[in-house]
Amino acid sequence: MVFKRKDLLGTRDLTADEIRNLLASANSFLEIAERPLKKVPALRGKTVVNLFYEPSTRTRTSFEIAAKRLSADAINMSASTSSVVKGESLLDTVDNIQAMAPDIIVVRHRHVGAAHLIAGHIRASVVNAGDGANEHPTQALLDLLTISQHKSLESGLKVAIIGDIAHSRVARSNIWALTTLGITVRVCAPPTMLPREMEKIAGVEVCRTPEEALEGVDVVMMLRIQLERQDKLLFPSIRDYARIFGLNRQRLALAKADAIVMHPGPMNRGVEITSEVADSDRAVILNQVSNGVALRMAVLFLLGGQGS
Ligand code: CP
Repeated sequence: MVFKRKDLLGTRDLTADEIRNLLASANSFLEIAERPLKKVPALRGKTVVNLFYEPSTRTRTSFEIAAKRLSADAINMSASTSSVVKGESLLDTVDNIQAMAPDIIVVRHRHVGAAHLIAGHIRASVVNAGDGANEHPTQALLDLLTISQHKSLESGLKVAIIGDIAHSRVARSNIWALTTLGITVRVCAPPTMLPREMEKIAGVEVCRTPEEALEGVDVVMMLRIQLERQDKLLFPSIRDYARIFGLNRQRLALAKADAIVMHPGPMNRGVEITSEVADSDRAVILNQVSNGVALRMAVLFLLGGQGS
């Protein structure tokens, strides 16, 4: 299986075939987590650098585990403990990392386009692990992998994404990937958290209320309010937000009886989702995290040049 790209920067420009190939490759890596010895030699001798300018629990850890399960050397760098705090620029930092000959750099940065800038500047492959509110492609791909374990990924499927769409790179990457596969996406947010551009995207339906968005859907994806990207709260109060937009058992009953509930994490329990729903057998939230390792193994494997 070949992925003919140097970098993975977003899902917006991926073809349906590329998405399906990535998912097929991830599927083949799933069983490694079940082995007593969770290691294969596929990327032995390769070096993966995780360069994170923003906090992360799931993405950074799963990229590190993925690299190590492929026998690559994985190095973690966070901006707060690097010379970034002494004023080193992004490009100077990556020039210095490039000088140590890594094969793949996984980067998360608060600025839109940071991963693209780095990818155009260095020889190593670059994976975008989140750039501002723009894209988080591996999250969307692991979400698709999770959906595919419960539903057929084809037109007719309906996915509701509810929450702070404006600041969500997860929402954008999911919207591009899902609509490329012909899947309908319903988006719902307070008007202050819903960009106008959503109305123009083919395959996206803008809903005014969560009730409208949830009616008869197969998949419910909840998003947290990204207070760290808001200058001021874009809703009168968190309590009102939870009452009007939060997913509880009563609202979930509007979706199909076998609808699954997803959340990219981190969750704010009692705000966008109740604990009753998050911990129910309808929730696949921790499966998303498990699938993230296999999906990221596939991405590193295909970019690492071992995929042919
Ligand atoms: N979903 C996600 O990106 O989580 P982290 O911020 O913990 O990596």
